[in-house]
Amino acid sequence: MATAYQIIDHTYDVVVVGAGGAGLRATFGMAEKGLKTACITKVFPTRSHTVAAQGGISAALGNMGEDDWRYHMYDTVKGSDWLGDQDAIEYMCREAIPAIIELEHYGVPFSRTPEGKIYQRAFGGMTAQYGKTQAYRTCAAADRTGHAMLHTLYQQSLKHEAEFFVEYFALDLIMEDGVCKGVLAWNLDDGTIHRFRGQLVVLATGGYGRAYFSATSAHTCTGDGGGMVLRAGLPLQDMEFVQFHPTGIYGSGCLITEGVRGEGGYLTNSNGERFMERYAPSAKDLASRDVVSRSMTIEIREGRGVGEHKDHIHLHLEHLPPEVIHQRLPGIAETAKIFANVDVTKEPIPVLPTVHYNMGGIPTNFRCEVVTPTAENPDQVVPGLMAIGEAACVSVHGANRLGSNSLLDLVVFGRSAAIRAAEIVKPGQTPSVKDSSTDAALERFDRIRNAKGSIKSADLRLEMQRTMQNNCAVFRTGEVMSEGVKLIDATFAKKNDISISDRSLVWNSDLVEALELDNLLFQAVATLHSAVNRPESRGAHAREDYPNRDDVDWMKHTAIWVGEDGKTRFDYRPVHLYTLTDEVQVFPPKARVY
Ligand code: FUM
Repeated sequence: MATAYQIIDHTYDVVVVGAGGAGLRATFGMAEKGLKTACITKVFPTRSHTVAAQGGISAALGNMGEDDWRYHMYDTVKGSDWLGDQDAIEYMCREAIPAIIELEHYGVPFSRTPEGKIYQRAFGGMTAQYGKTQAYRTCAAADRTGHAMLHTLYQQSLKHEAEFFVEYFALDLIMEDGVCKGVLAWNLDDGTIHRFRGQLVVLATGGYGRAYFSATSAHTCTGDGGGMVLRAGLPLQDMEFVQFHPTGIYGSGCLITEGVRGEGGYLTNSNGERFMERYAPSAKDLASRDVVSRSMTIEIREGRGVGEHKDHIHLHLEHLPPEVIHQRLPGIAETAKIFANVDVTKEPIPVLPTVHYNMGGIPTNFRCEVVTPTAENPDQVVPGLMAIGEAACVSVHGANRLGSNSLLDLVVFGRSAAIRAAEIVKPGQTPSVKDSSTDAALERFDRIRNAKGSIKSADLRLEMQRTMQNNCAVFRTGEVMSEGVKLIDATFAKKNDISISDRSLVWNSDLVEALELDNLLFQAVATLHSAVNRPESRGAHAREDYPNRDDVDWMKHTAIWVGEDGKTRFDYRPVHLYTLTDEVQVFPPKARVY
């Protein structure tokens, strides 16, 4: 059966999987350093989900007011609710400045101040003077920053002659004796199977937002890298932390950027009250996302939601000057018209907290090397494997990510991966791989392709999405999550009973969706089991039965393994409370004050 597939071989120094912001930054950075670099991507690079990023990318440039990378670091550590690794956060916030200047020089068409500097807007949780005043730190290209960046990064990749394998679906990692030696992929366009060997595989496959029913993520955000890592017997980290963006459009889930509130927009309940003034008297509508999402949910629960069913909230920008909307927020004006039939210059947008980002993912150090806890070393490096972007858990976002730190994470750690690759990869010396090392991956592919069970993968996906939406939401309790664990385990078990109606190998979207569902299911199980396992509230993990943060027992990263049989196993990694240099102090955790 597996031998029925003819395999086409490729040899590279480095193989990057994924062509979003992180994947492209790594790809051209590695090619630029003289490494023979392949980039495998299931969608055309400029259709990757980074294209949907709106509000901007953070860096303490100080173009529109006082700023310092140390303030940025302070905000990020605090925003992470003390679960972020401070060495990695220092690296990100410090390197943000040269990384953005580089982007400018590569050609990203940032919006400009009247003096011609990069325009920067206010975002939630971003402060100057260690929490004293609002910072203007989020560099923006109107409200299409991700689009602008992705096109520039793709152009740079072409300039540096990286080789692209477009519309190739990565199936599984090739592992030998704990070392990653490559990746197996399926060419959707002609049905051929490809074995990519490399000294380094870099997973830049994005998040798994589509495990939920309503998400701002593209339908392609199916956590393919996380699925491959779990099947390779490696753990994922901090999967319980799922971010809800406060302003997804009610009904469709489309993102309305936090930049709206950064430009002066605000939220109201059915009484017309600006309720964030009650929950976060100083930051108000620009409190961090976990705080705003919880506040909106409380307003709705207590009967102050808007609309016929009192089940959403209003976001106002009709008071803003039309030229601000035209220049700074043209994209969301169009999105609101198309998806909510709202003219933002005249009426509020109906919004609801919507799944937006996975803080958890593949554990790495700040050099982007994948790590796994062992009895001897909590930070044991997995040779030959890196992860970057939303697929990874560096962890710079800890329990809650600040808006505009994601595009930054992509660029800084895509760049860091290239720097590290140049140190450890020896050009032209990629070792051979045993033929048997791809057998398990091919057998899995063949089994799913020929599945003749009783459940359509679309029905099973919906079952998973409803459980995640209902049982692992903004507010959580042990009871609701325990029910969720039972439901998701039952759904996972049913994956062996799916049916595939199309057996062809060319553009078989039925099979693509089944493979994506398999990846999602592994991560849905990891998320619910990790959530019920953490008896505290921290960042986006808000438990009503454990309302306090427990720094004594739970200031640690969760590592979870999920087997093919759905069985889970936990271990923990310490949070890095140390910094890389003595230029910053380690902040002791304090009570939350917003
Ligand atoms: O609201 C936004 O524009 C999203 C930004 C982010 O998630 O970083």
